[in-house]
Amino acid sequence: MFDKEVYTHRRQTLLEKMRNAGQSGVILLLGNAEAPAQYKDNCYKWRQDSTWLYFMGIDEPLFAAILDIDSGRETIYADDFTTGDVIWMGPQPSVAERAALVGVGGSAPYSALEADVKKALSAGRKVHYINPSRWFNTLKMMRLLGIENPEEGVSLPLTKAVISMRLIKEDVEIDALDYACDLGYTMHSVARDMILPGRPERQIVGQMEAIAQSLGWGLSFPTILTQHGEVLHNHAHTDTLRDGTLLVIDAGVESDLHYASDFTRTYPVGGKFTTRQREIYSIVHECNELAFSLTRPGVSYRSIHLATARLMLDRLSALGIVKGDVDQMVADGIAGLFQPHGLGHNMGLDVHDMEDLGEDLVGYDPDQERSPQLGLGSLRMARKLVPGHVITDEPGIYFIPALIEKFKKEGLGKDYVNYDLLRRNYYDFGGIRLEDDVLVTPDGARRLGTLRLAVTPENVEQALSENED
Ligand code: GLY
Ligand code: MN
Repeated sequence: MFDKEVYTHRRQTLLEKMRNAGQSGVILLLGNAEAPAQYKDNCYKWRQDSTWLYFMGIDEPLFAAILDIDSGRETIYADDFTTGDVIWMGPQPSVAERAALVGVGGSAPYSALEADVKKALSAGRKVHYINPSRWFNTLKMMRLLGIENPEEGVSLPLTKAVISMRLIKEDVEIDALDYACDLGYTMHSVARDMILPGRPERQIVGQMEAIAQSLGWGLSFPTILTQHGEVLHNHAHTDTLRDGTLLVIDAGVESDLHYASDFTRTYPVGGKFTTRQREIYSIVHECNELAFSLTRPGVSYRSIHLATARLMLDRLSALGIVKGDVDQMVADGIAGLFQPHGLGHNMGLDVHDMEDLGEDLVGYDPDQERSPQLGLGSLRMARKLVPGHVITDEPGIYFIPALIEKFKKEGLGKDYVNYDLLRRNYYDFGGIRLEDDVLVTPDGARRLGTLRLAVTPENVEQALSENED
């Protein structure tokens, strides 16, 4: 947990933002409850709600809070441990003690929440809440507010205020993200050092999970480790490493403070890239470096996505995979055939930060509209960059036979794409993605974490050459 001043300052800022937006009433914040996997005493791994963590810090189940916009009064609702709880879970600080740690003076039993919300409603006061990220809290909202569909009543002013704050990382958060990235670096390095033909994929995945658990809270999302990189989020790890394939590893560690890291590297399993693999790898690497070099305040991430799309198509032209005017190909969305995802996303307490609050609200400025095009349409962060944004830089090139066939059948890109060459040489290629985590600074950008994972083809081959059983 951070110092209590961090949380009190955040809540004061939130209330001020709401008042400045002409809002009154109360803010209702819900922490998460335990989520039973089979029965109530056997739950999924505990994870607190991220917005709750941001404002309230308390990493325990079944907490809620009401922040009064008009009076500034703050109350935390939760139950003290009973003797029965202590028998099974040991002694715990009281709710009042926990509240004091985050600078909140008022506390009440969890059961008092319903009466206090109803009191506010019957006094004609507005109860502001954000989209509940879990079903338990959706149902809770329905009960507390007496409504059928909590999604419809979500407070846009509150959502925007929360996003505006969480998007710009404070110094303490940047330290936390650097730390999470250092853990991610360690996990990825160990994984890379295990890459040898004949090794079961799951052995590496298991080792990575052990590192994430032993150094931090655990994984920041389920590990993607696959020799079928063309399947963007492949979570199957049942294969054995085979000489000549490309292995995509996309994974991150979540620290004890719940900040994420998210890196991707792609490795030639036998230790050396083939000519074709190296050609495509070098394009992705160039795109990754270009994106980083363009990242600075005042530039939109959408324009950086498009700059990498342009570079990618230019280089694919040189290989004869596409032909024609590169700018026209970018405008016509041809890059989406090879990279059907966006260049990156926001990262913070969530690996895809705040997507529960609405992807467009988080990733798009009010004057930006999301494109319907494949690839660009999946861009989760398009905003004009400002210092404190933390984003991923993750270009990729994938050869997805089903997508290529669909394009061909529908006559898409017929003036540009060399379908014969793709079928002849690339249907069994797989995919390549490279990803770093980047902080926008006042005068540019820096990659998060102390060290950067090997990324040039030479350094990757050098690192793999040291692998042994
Ligand atoms: N690293 C997984 C993703 O960004 O979707
Ligand atoms: Mn990512």
